Amino acid sequence: MAKRRLPRAVFDYIDGGAGAEITLRENSRIFEDVTFRPRNAVASSTCRLQTTVLGTTLELPFLLAPVGSSRLSFPRGECVAAREAGAAGTAYTLSTLSGCKLEDVRAASSGPVWYQLYLVGGREAATASIQRARVAGFSALVVTIDTAVAGNRERDVRSGTKELVSGQFWKMLPHVPQLVVRPGWLAGFLLDGGLMEFPNVVLPGKGPMKYAEVEPALAQSTVTWQDLRWIRKVWSGPIVVKGVLTAQDARRAVDEGAAAVLVSNHGGRQLDGVAPSLRALPEVVAAVGGRAEVLMDGGIRRGSDVVKALCLGARAVLVGRAYAYGLGAAGGPGVARAIEILRADLVRTLALLGCDDVAALDRSYVDCPAHWPAASLAVTKHIDSQRNREERPQRSSQAAT
Ligand SMILES: Cc1cc2nc3c(=O)[nH]c(=O)nc-3n(C[C@H](O)[C@H](O)[C@H](O)COP(=O)(O)O)c2cc1C
Repeated sequence: MAKRRLPRAVFDYIDGGAGAEITLRENSRIFEDVTFRPRNAVASSTCRLQTTVLGTTLELPFLLAPVGSSRLSFPRGECVAAREAGAAGTAYTLSTLSGCKLEDVRAASSGPVWYQLYLVGGREAATASIQRARVAGFSALVVTIDTAVAGNRERDVRSGTKELVSGQFWKMLPHVPQLVVRPGWLAGFLLDGGLMEFPNVVLPGKGPMKYAEVEPALAQSTVTWQDLRWIRKVWSGPIVVKGVLTAQDARRAVDEGAAAVLVSNHGGRQLDGVAPSLRALPEVVAAVGGRAEVLMDGGIRRGSDVVKALCLGARAVLVGRAYAYGLGAAGGPGVARAIEILRADLVRTLALLGCDDVAALDRSYVDCPAHWPAASLAVTKHIDSQRNREERPQRSSQAAT
C-alpha cells in the first residue's frame, strides 16, 4: 500500500538498502534459520507482553526505531508515528534527521520517547538538541555509531533523490513525473510545507539544517568513542549505543557507560555485507554478560520474528520499516495497523509455543545453527534454563487448572 501511495523516490528511500542489499535481505531471511521448540498440550488463559526497558514498563516488547525524514512519507510523520506508539503503550525513537520539532513529538505521544543522536551540525548544535531533548522529557539518548558516512543507497541514485532535494529547477525536472503521478501524496506534501528542513539540527548563526546538506554533514561528523565520553557529560540519562555487531564493540560500549547496546546494522542501509542482526545477537549478549540491556533491530516483519529475537537474548526489539510502510500507506491508522499486526502475531506465536509471558522466553524455545558465533554458550544457557524451568512450577498449567 505504501508503494502505491508514495512516489518512487520516497518508497525506495524506505524500502532500499546499501550496495547489493545483501545485508538488507539477510536481515529478514535469517529468521528462517531459527526454528521453534514448542511446548505443546499447554493451556494458557493469559498472555503477558509487558517488558521493562531502561526502567520503563512497555506494554509491548517492541519499540519504534528512528526513521529519518518520516515527514516525507506523511504530513507531520514523526508526530503521527509517536502518537500511535504511545497509544499502543510502547516507545517511539525520534531521529535527529526528522522534520518535526522534538518538543512537538514529545507532546504528541502519551508514551515514552527516546532521542536518536547524530553529530551532524557539530558539537554545538548537538549539545543544543540534547538539552532541548532533556527539557522536553525524552527519557533516553540513542547514539548511532554505524554512520561514518552515508551508505551507498543505489536506489536513491536511480530515483534522482539528490536532484529532487537540490532545489534547482533544471536538475529536478527529469524526476518530477514520479511526484505528479502520486497526487494524494503530493497534495499532503505541499500542504505540509513542501520539502522539510531539520528543525532539531540548528546550525549556529544559520538556523535549521537544509535537506541537501545532510550527506556532507554526516561524513564530517563520525561519532567516536571519545565523543561518547563527552556526550555522557552533556546527557545524564541512559544512553543506548546503536549499531553494535561484535563482542568487541559491545564491550567497549558498556565500558564507555552505555546502559543498553542495540544490535543493529541500520537495517542494511550502511555497510553492505555485515552479518544480519539476529546472527550477531548471541555474540553480543554473551559479551555484555548482563552488564547492560541488549536490544536488537533489523529484518523484523512478524510477531514470530520478535519472539525469536527475545529467545536469543534481546530484552526488546525495535522495528523500522515494519511501521514506516504503515506510515507511508495511511499515516496514523497505518502505523496503528502495523503495530496491531505485530502484536496479534506475537500473541498467537506465544500461545502456539506454550509460553504465556515474554519474560519467560529463552534459548530453550529455539534451535539455531551450530555454526553461529557463541553457539557453545547457547548450549550452556539452554541447559541452565531447562533446569530453572524444571524447578519452577509452570505458570501456564496453573492457569489451566
Ligand atoms: C527510511 C529509514 C530511515 C532511517 N533513519 C535512521 C536514522 O535517522 N537514524 C538511525 O539511527 N537509524 C535510522 N534507520 C535505521 C533504523 O533505526 C533501524 O535500525 C532499521 O530500520 C531496522 O531495520 P528494519 O527496517 O528491517 O526494521 C532508518 C531506517 C529506515 C528504513
